[in-house]
Amino acid sequence: MGAEKLKSRVDFVQKWVVEDPKEKYVWWPSEEMKRRAWVSDPSIYERAAKDPVAFWGKLAAEGLEWFKKWDTTYVENPPYFKWFVGGKLNICYNAVDRHLKAGKGDKVAIIWVPEPIEESPRKITYKELHDQVNRFANVLKSLGVKRGDRVGIYLPLIPEVQIAMLACARIGAVHSVVFSAFSSDSLRVRLEDAGAKVLVTADGYYRRGKLVDLKASADEGVKGTSVEKVVVVKRAGNEVNMVEGRDRWWHELMEKAEPSCEPEVMDAEDMLYLLYTSGTTGRPKGVIHTTGGYATQVYWTTKWVFDLHDDDLFWCTSDIGWVTGHSYACYGPLLNGISMLIYEGSPDYPTPDRWWEIIEQHKVTVFYTAPTAIRMFVGLGEALPKKHNLSSLRLLGTVGEPIDMEAWLWYFNNIGGGRCPITDTWWQTETGGTLIMSLPGVGPFMPTVAGRSFPGTRHEVMDEDGSPTPVGYLVQLSPFGPGMLRGLYKADDKYRETYWSRYRNQFYFTGDGARRASHGCIRVTGRVDDVMKVAGHRLSTAELEDAMNRHAAVSESAVIPKPHPIKGETPVAYVILKKGVAPSDELAKELVAHIGKVVGPIAKPEQVFIVEELPKTRSGKIMRRILKALLTNDPIGDTSTLFNPESVESLKKKVGYTGPG
Ligand code: WTA
Repeated sequence: MGAEKLKSRVDFVQKWVVEDPKEKYVWWPSEEMKRRAWVSDPSIYERAAKDPVAFWGKLAAEGLEWFKKWDTTYVENPPYFKWFVGGKLNICYNAVDRHLKAGKGDKVAIIWVPEPIEESPRKITYKELHDQVNRFANVLKSLGVKRGDRVGIYLPLIPEVQIAMLACARIGAVHSVVFSAFSSDSLRVRLEDAGAKVLVTADGYYRRGKLVDLKASADEGVKGTSVEKVVVVKRAGNEVNMVEGRDRWWHELMEKAEPSCEPEVMDAEDMLYLLYTSGTTGRPKGVIHTTGGYATQVYWTTKWVFDLHDDDLFWCTSDIGWVTGHSYACYGPLLNGISMLIYEGSPDYPTPDRWWEIIEQHKVTVFYTAPTAIRMFVGLGEALPKKHNLSSLRLLGTVGEPIDMEAWLWYFNNIGGGRCPITDTWWQTETGGTLIMSLPGVGPFMPTVAGRSFPGTRHEVMDEDGSPTPVGYLVQLSPFGPGMLRGLYKADDKYRETYWSRYRNQFYFTGDGARRASHGCIRVTGRVDDVMKVAGHRLSTAELEDAMNRHAAVSESAVIPKPHPIKGETPVAYVILKKGVAPSDELAKELVAHIGKVVGPIAKPEQVFIVEELPKTRSGKIMRRILKALLTNDPIGDTSTLFNPESVESLKKKVGYTGPG
């Protein structure tokens, strides 16, 4: 991406954030929080910075049980680096067996809350988890899955998803979880790229009381892929078509499976999972995470950032299809041997206070969610949380997109009762675990400001040339965090180009804009590339354009993120139709539905404008800056370099552009 484009994107994003918070909005941890917290001495930052590699080495040794200690803690040859080279471990063993050995088998690992209120929550102890994971590991083996093979997981938020992930890790297979609300096309692209041998899915699940026929999507999604066997969890009880010789029921296989499976001895740098995420091209990228470094980072970030102790109940609301679900609704809490809650359904179903009801009922102590959800609740009013006793809460977290001042203060006052710190955690699918935040026993907590680099990591705000600057791009400096991606699956060029080419392999480019804030903190203002965050979900404009262009009526399209008061951003599409196709409102609606079908409901454009022309440069590139300004009523700027400057006037009418002011 050119410097000019980046710059215009930074300017664009920053128009939508308020000024940096003043001192009046700076909170520090209470004495009680400091007493209880794992970390309360701010000198940890300086101590870690003196020798970050040794610091991480100590954490890895203390936090995990290794079958064999590593020979070298860190080697770097940017853009490649490795952690704990020669070390041997198994992450499933660390997340499950270790707690049994420590006599914690009867402790609850997972409380699962189903969406239908007439169904009872399910509690799974570490002992039961161990049994289920071992059995499923044997099931996978019996289906021919071997170490290094890829297994697709397309499941709703039910405990079988954690069981399946851990079982893969146990036998050294690589899991690739696909968000259950993604379409069959999205599933197929991911299964194909990963070369998955087996798919684990369910018959169906409930969303806002409506049955979603997941198996039908899975059947479509596996067509033409290398998937040989499909395991189906019976969740909703809907009728499904079981393909003879390919499809098997989870419960039948589990019943017959041996209850014990030795964990594979994995190398620290062996691949643990692939998670597909949206980049700047039409195809999603398979982010590679490995075993030892990832386990170390998620173990310690879970423990210190969410300050989890034996008596806590942690609820991370993310779906398992996103990295937040992987790290903080599976591996992180389980590695720490704590109890976590997961909820299958929609936040506001059947009543808009469902989440607050769950917190009260189960006495959740640490709650982690996304700004979009908070903004939705701001709109619903203070009366809803007031109906519930939320005094069990002691710490709140947020993730996924920049949080605005209003939402932050509402969350702090109405959910945290003014007493719970909010840790605003910045990170990415690529970073594996959270990297910029305030530690609850150290602070400060400032609305709209994420915080400082986690001890042992370094970030900087830089200009295009790689010099520190108060407002610029967020970059990560060496040594790169142990949980960082090790590459993109079968796309090494893309890996180098996306993250490393901008700063000549010296720094990792995050794709985010950032500002330096007070107290040594960093404020992340949002993406500067073509990645959108729609309700916290990561999508790319190129992916949506690609999908749009596949519709028979469409000749060309441009998808632009538009600021949205609740979702943060929402896609808007400009579409040129093929010759001879007549524009109509019905067609525009059909195109919205088309994106919903091809990508998934979260990606549906808010609006589709059918237009005659798109503003283009003489070399034929679409001028997105102009399309964006039209949506936000910003100045259109210079149109003299356009090949078709007259196109702008008709577009103004079409979108109802009123201009700045
Ligand atoms: C954005 C989600 C501001 C950012 C864990 C990043 C944030 C992208 C924050 C990654 C935050 C995440 N403040 N922005 N606290 N957390 N982001 O891969 O733009 O789904 O690059 O990972 O989310 O999204 P992803």
